[in-house]
Amino acid sequence: MRLFIIAVLCLVFSVQANAANLKKGAKMNKTCALCHGAWGQGTTGAKSPRIAGMTRGFLVRILSEYRSKKRKNAGMVLTSGIHRMSDKNIDDVSTYLAGIDLRGDPRFDVDHAKGDKAKGRKIFMSECKGCHKKTGYGKPKKGIPALAGQQTAYIIRTIERFKARKRIHDDDPEDDLFDEMFPKKQDMMDLTAFLSTLDDIKEQRVATLPDGSQILGKRKAKTKVKAAVKATKVAKAPTEEDVPGASVNEITQTVAKMQLEVGITKEDAITAMRSRAVELNMKLVGEQHVSKALKDRGEKAPYLAIFQFCNLSDAKTIITNNPLYAAYMPCRVAMVEDPEGRIWLMMLNLDILVDNTMVSKKVVETVINVNQKMLEIMVAGANGAF
Ligand code: HEC
Ligand code: HEC
Repeated sequence: MRLFIIAVLCLVFSVQANAANLKKGAKMNKTCALCHGAWGQGTTGAKSPRIAGMTRGFLVRILSEYRSKKRKNAGMVLTSGIHRMSDKNIDDVSTYLAGIDLRGDPRFDVDHAKGDKAKGRKIFMSECKGCHKKTGYGKPKKGIPALAGQQTAYIIRTIERFKARKRIHDDDPEDDLFDEMFPKKQDMMDLTAFLSTLDDIKEQRVATLPDGSQILGKRKAKTKVKAAVKATKVAKAPTEEDVPGASVNEITQTVAKMQLEVGITKEDAITAMRSRAVELNMKLVGEQHVSKALKDRGEKAPYLAIFQFCNLSDAKTIITNNPLYAAYMPCRVAMVEDPEGRIWLMMLNLDILVDNTMVSKKVVETVINVNQKMLEIMVAGANGAF
């Protein structure tokens, strides 16, 4: 009997020891949020899929494959420090993201794509249902992702990449499912039109909050999701636990920062930022070498230089919605020396601008896109280009 109790206790403790640390997951997600949106909702552009509510198994596999370089996306890997993540880190952030219940909340709505839903349904039921399931929510245990609620432009781009063998579908390099399919653009539109309705289905699902408690997301999904998202924001992680990647200032979440990699000089970083900005169509509209100017006046100061970037049409979209946002423009990257002599790159995390439900979807998307471009510039600087 005693042995039995000890065995049970060991089991309990080992389960606890292995349980994902959701607070840590939430903290790591802040770097993901810089590109995938504050709630992991993604954007309608092809560049940022929604990751909230993806299955844990899928996320763990994908992140592990980015870590082992089987999949490549330098900006994402370096910003979030995926190359430095431990298995536990990967589990924490994946479990956290998988626990965000996305149904019923307008922030997770995908735009309904144009096309014939009934025809699209036929294609899905005959070709895709077997793996992605009738509901489109995939098979969590087998690492098969949900297509329900995924951004349409991302699905189209991904299928095109499957066809061109730039990404492997179903872990099978020989997979020819998409070769014969969609010879007509209309079929693809019909399929995505159907897929974009799938997140309207309300099926029972358990969501995990950052404090580890679980909620059921059925009829009251709307309020529950809000609770989950709110909990994400108030979850405080007072200890400065180290997590890989760029750090997002803990208290206000207003700043994203990165240190220059070993061997990268300030000059390398500046050159890399300038050329990346040109590639991304971000105009360098201002540059101040503050410490140099002070030195010219005979004053000693830690290194400080500020670079300002702006994409004109993005600026227009944002201020048309609310002129107040002009106060945040242009976007800046500061290069600054800390008391230990280390050089950091810092930028404002624009996500804070969209951290309320009042702004239009278009603005949210624009801000996420600008944030992503600014990060790419910063990552290029920190690594002396990639
Ligand atoms: C610098 C921007 C950026 C950051 C930071 C970022 N991602 Fe991504 N992520 C992307 C882009 C862009 C894609 C789309 C890739 C494509 O389609 O080629 C993507 C795709 C994905 C995908 C889809 C699967 C795949 O193979 O493309 C997953 C899952 C994902 N990211 C998870 C994460 C997680 C988790 C984090 C944080 C630990 C994160 N991302 C941080 C930009 C980013
Ligand atoms: C035999 C099983 C199987 C079938 C059938 C199947 N899929 Fe998949 N699908 C998968 C698996 C496994 C993945 C994850 C692939 C990976 O590792 O990136 C996937 C991934 C995807 C993705 C990428 C999702 C993401 O979040 O990045 C899309 C899009 C997709 N499938 C579309 C389809 C469509 C459309 C059909 C039907 C025409 C279909 N699949 C049929 C197994 C399948």
